[in-house]
Amino acid sequence: MKILAHRGLSASFPENTAIAFQQAAKLSCWGVEFDVHLTKDQQLVVIHDESIDRTSNGTGFVKDLTLAELKTYDFGSWFEAKFAGEKICTLEEVLDIFKDTKHQINIEIKSDVFEYPGIEILVAKTIEKFQQNKRIIVSSFNHDTIARFQQIQPNVNCALLFASLITKLDEYVRNFDCQAIHIPYYYGIRSIIQRMIQQGIIVRTYTVNNKKIAQQMEQLGIDAVFSDKGIL
Ligand code: G3P
Ligand code: CA
Repeated sequence: MKILAHRGLSASFPENTAIAFQQAAKLSCWGVEFDVHLTKDQQLVVIHDESIDRTSNGTGFVKDLTLAELKTYDFGSWFEAKFAGEKICTLEEVLDIFKDTKHQINIEIKSDVFEYPGIEILVAKTIEKFQQNKRIIVSSFNHDTIARFQQIQPNVNCALLFASLITKLDEYVRNFDCQAIHIPYYYGIRSIIQRMIQQGIIVRTYTVNNKKIAQQMEQLGIDAVFSDKGIL
């Protein structure tokens, strides 16, 4: 089964930090997934939540803080004291960790709560600098973001993220030039998943931390799973 290390190797290291990505980069897993937000001074940073409260010793929304301000906080010790001093990473810093590996890189644009005007063009520019388009998958729960990103950069694979079932999923997906959908594994409507796969849509599921479930996914024809463990 192909596995994307979810938020880096987040089962054992503080999610979305350099150490979580460095450890994922050492694994022979298929890829890595992480989340991107925009700072007050228009810098792309890698963090899951809109606010820094849960995963740092600071407080506030990413959109209200500059990169310099964010870099003053500790993003490691909330997870375990020994990780004190981990800093928030920019998108460029994370891509740099994977520059010499073969991992697929799934950048999730977290624009579903705050819109972050212009985030798509900034992500496209950063990917362009990385010069390894074929390894990148851009996804978002905000499907307007995906449509905008595809207009800007049609040569990067995209995936539509879903948090729950919608009616007429296959018709909906055809409105986008997307090769894949990313859905929760408990989405569980076997016939829908099979219909999507038959129609040539790649289906990946999150978040699978159990080997048996990963095997069931494989039997269903799921292309890859997101796992906090990286290897199952
Ligand atoms: O991209 C798959 C998964 O990461 C989406 O959910 O909340 O973990 O970002 P979340
Ligand atoms: Ca994510």
